[in-house]
Amino acid sequence: MKKEFKFGTDLDGKAKEELIRLAYEGKERSYSPYSGFQVGAALLAENGTVYLGCNIENAAYSATNCAERTAFFQAVSEGVKEFRAIAIVGGPKGSKKGELCAPCGVCRQVMMEFCDPRSFLVFCASSPEQYQAYTLAQLLPKG
Ligand code: THU
Repeated sequence: MKKEFKFGTDLDGKAKEELIRLAYEGKERSYSPYSGFQVGAALLAENGTVYLGCNIENAAYSATNCAERTAFFQAVSEGVKEFRAIAIVGGPKGSKKGELCAPCGVCRQVMMEFCDPRSFLVFCASSPEQYQAYTLAQLLPKG
């Protein structure tokens, strides 16, 4: 799913909260019968579109796709390759807010393929108001 971001790409406090809220919307679509851990992502493109992603698991575990990569692959499959930020939320099924969920190494590498590591921002959130912001360079040094 994708959404127009009403804040453009300017990421002030309200815009960050909205991006995180959209990540929770992505999380609702999580297909995670094996781990029971639901993850959602909201990827803000430079054109102001937000791509939502969720984790999609598989009985052959290694075929699982993380929420972050679901969002990236949807965007790139539509020809969009310039990005500003991503918000990530996750937690056990049934939990309301969740816990700070940092992207896995494979997802960091996918981000590195398309994003400027010094300016692309990653918001790891446990609620719309509680999050930690990192640059991609902080999460994947010397990528
Ligand atoms: N997962 C994500 O979707 N993103 C992350 O950043 C961490 C892990 C998923 C993969 C698997 O479906 C579940 O969370 C448990 O690891």
